[in-house]
Amino acid sequence: MNATNLESIARALVAPGKGILAADESTPTITKRFQTINLLSTEDTRRAYREMLFTAPGLEEFIGGVILFDETIRQRSSDDEPLVDILKKKGIIPGIKVDKGTKPLAGFPGEKITEGLDGLRERLPEYVKMGARFTKWRAVIAIGQGIPTETCVSANAHALARFAALSQEAGLVPIVEPEVLMDGDHTMGHCEDVTRMMLHTVFKELAAHRVAIENMLLKVNMITAGKNYGQQPNVPDVADATLRCLAGTVPNSLPGIVFLSGGQDDVLATQRLNAMNQFDNVPWQLGFSFARALQAPALQAWNGEHIRAGHLALLHRAQCNSAARFGRYSEEMETERMAA
Ligand code: 13P
Repeated sequence: MNATNLESIARALVAPGKGILAADESTPTITKRFQTINLLSTEDTRRAYREMLFTAPGLEEFIGGVILFDETIRQRSSDDEPLVDILKKKGIIPGIKVDKGTKPLAGFPGEKITEGLDGLRERLPEYVKMGARFTKWRAVIAIGQGIPTETCVSANAHALARFAALSQEAGLVPIVEPEVLMDGDHTMGHCEDVTRMMLHTVFKELAAHRVAIENMLLKVNMITAGKNYGQQPNVPDVADATLRCLAGTVPNSLPGIVFLSGGQDDVLATQRLNAMNQFDNVPWQLGFSFARALQAPALQAWNGEHIRAGHLALLHRAQCNSAARFGRYSEEMETERMAA
């Protein structure tokens, strides 16, 4: 696949009004989510849940891409159709999480490094064959006493850059995700400083590894206070701080930035995305790649069996976030229930 194709895939993933559904929870993470509805996590319940998400009628109006987990990209629906084909038929671009999760960084208590580079070059062509057109790798940076350290930031940035270079080599659009966690009682200013340092280091490494910026996407946290910080910032302040941080660190040639939800309340995540999309003259598309903020209501509504209720809940959140991409979301949308 040539470079022009990679850029057009990156641009399609952040087309106006569209977002990315992150459905790439690892088995331990989806098991934790299923515990909230008292559902046993088995290969089949995970398949049934993802099948419910992907078959939501009209999902393609709001969702341009879905990030899958390795198990899911190999699964078939109850009608024996590959789950990937359900997405492809709707014009939704399938993607794949290729990192192997985080491990404690040796010698740096409280810090993590993302693993998965070994053998990655060999794994990628199989994903291309199975229909994936983009990849994702998530690095996590925690804020705490004396952390993050420069070592943790640069080790994770280095891994992100190597992942991105290997993905582009294989003809896949990398989504580079450095996530500064919301855990803790830090201020919004502290989150902004750490995110700025992380992004600065990530783009330096990407350049050093000759990653084509126009052929990738950035997935990042919004700038907000830690979950346990007393006073949560208001929506305009989050939008201002986030755009200020990005403006100082992200090259204009990047096609788009997609935000993760990171444990924010789902409606708040939509409000903040909406506020950012009301700014003029932003050089990048400002999209979303939410897992929890798109799926949480759908998981509760589905509750292991109610497919139509799950569809309606997912479509509702997807529609709200799609409106937020144009800065046209309003709270009234929360009370209107769209007809499927
Ligand atoms: P959340 O939106 O739940 O943070 O998940 C996004 C994601 O893909 C994390 O890697």
